[in-house]
Amino acid sequence: MPGTWQEKMAEIVEEARKRDDFVVVHHYDADGCSSGAIMNKALLREGKKVSRKWVKQLYRETIAEIRGLGRNYVFVDFGSGQLGYLKEEFGENLFVFDHHQRTDVGHPHHFTPFEFGINGGTEVSASGIAYLFARTLNQKNLDLLPLAIVGAVGDVQDFSGKLIGLNAEIVKEGAAAGLVKVEKDLRLYGRVTRPLVQFLMYSTSPMLPELTANEENCRKFLQENGIRLKEASSSARNGCGTIGHSGDYGGEFSGQAGAEVNGDAHAERWRTYIDLSRDEKSLLATALILHLHKFRVPEWKISELFGEVYSFPEEDAHSPCSEAKEYSTLLNACGRHSFADVGVEVCLGNRGEFYSRAITLMAEHRRQLREGIEFVLKNGLKEEEAFYYFDAGGKIGESIVGIVAGMLYGSNLIVTNKPIIAIAQNEDGSLKISGRATKDLVHAGINLGIAFRDVCAEIGGGSEGGGHAVAAGLKLEKRNLQAFLEKLNVKLEEQQGKTK
Ligand code: C5P
Repeated sequence: MPGTWQEKMAEIVEEARKRDDFVVVHHYDADGCSSGAIMNKALLREGKKVSRKWVKQLYRETIAEIRGLGRNYVFVDFGSGQLGYLKEEFGENLFVFDHHQRTDVGHPHHFTPFEFGINGGTEVSASGIAYLFARTLNQKNLDLLPLAIVGAVGDVQDFSGKLIGLNAEIVKEGAAAGLVKVEKDLRLYGRVTRPLVQFLMYSTSPMLPELTANEENCRKFLQENGIRLKEASSSARNGCGTIGHSGDYGGEFSGQAGAEVNGDAHAERWRTYIDLSRDEKSLLATALILHLHKFRVPEWKISELFGEVYSFPEEDAHSPCSEAKEYSTLLNACGRHSFADVGVEVCLGNRGEFYSRAITLMAEHRRQLREGIEFVLKNGLKEEEAFYYFDAGGKIGESIVGIVAGMLYGSNLIVTNKPIIAIAQNEDGSLKISGRATKDLVHAGINLGIAFRDVCAEIGGGSEGGGHAVAAGLKLEKRNLQAFLEKLNVKLEEQQGKTK
């Protein structure tokens, strides 16, 4: 039994080297697309035959779709919870690189950080693991490092204000190689593509009293602090609008407005945060701190404004691909709207046709998230002892319903004292359930991934689920919904030591 993660990875790499004809099966979100791209590129570089297949979620029936596509199967960003049947199906031709909660089943080619005391929910994502595999395979794969950071940020592993654990090691390596720029700065979403007014008005962590959701006040605030909102533009910028960082788990409201003011390439355009001079940036930071003090916002909340920001100097400075959070939103927009291949192509360096397509998908993603939030605001949430929930029926896509649930925490619609459970419909008529929790709830004992997995085991009937402490999902037959809600209520009460 290998003692360190490096030893285990080296063993898996040696096994992979001996083989050929790989199928990389990856998840469809930002971490899934970036880890899929890393794995794809790394194996191709070794001269291997590789094909790719993305799936929304790995379920038992997915096996029928992928069987026969190749000889060796590499699962990234899922597989830990499904190892039992993957092992039965693929035997020694199976490789799994995953950061989700594991079960008791093991496999010699299963890499899970939990085996080494590393928390897969907070310290490394699937793209980080894929990168560590790639780097062990070939030093040339250092150039794939930015994708490891994009995936981690997409899975909101920077929620404490910076990436930690193995992620932080990767950041350090990237900074030393000049591939990543790390700045301690304002962490509001949209520093690259969002006009300044929207940059402030969509801030939800922290909420900015009288500024969040108030366009007019944000405009005045910036003007009173002498910050110009527009500047002369000589060239159009990527044609991209702006969007809230939905991460993988939801977070902030979606924005709007493009960078061009008049659509005329020689007209003025809205300035974004990265256009500000150093002096303007520090002026804005000071003004925000004073503003929050005025409203007696506690220091720990004010500190949420600041943290590490990761950007990629090799990208066009005005592209969403130049900053980790915006890059991950772009990938989520692709994957969660059934175009994960477009996201992977962008990860592989395509900045032409696929990139334009991704920008269009981001606008669509933004629209759907906004409509999802409006649906919940209109229809309200139901409440059990241990969680809030809403049933979107067919009104919110099952692939984004979890992101909408996460965004509700920032909406002032609910207090953040319970997890939120969202229900939507899968295409096959079954139900998709997504759960989201806050880090405070996790400190209080909540682990949605384990709760979902255990409740599925109790219910049976083909229900399958799992995930992380803060974000989990599952698939369920409609007839089992009531039983699920009841059992989940008990399980979540138990997790917090509140057993009846
Ligand atoms: O789909 P959603 O965004 O709600 O998924 C949240 C997390 O739960 C993801 O990390 C996903 O991989 C995981 N999940 C799972 N099993 C499912 C559905 C989702 O492990 N059946």
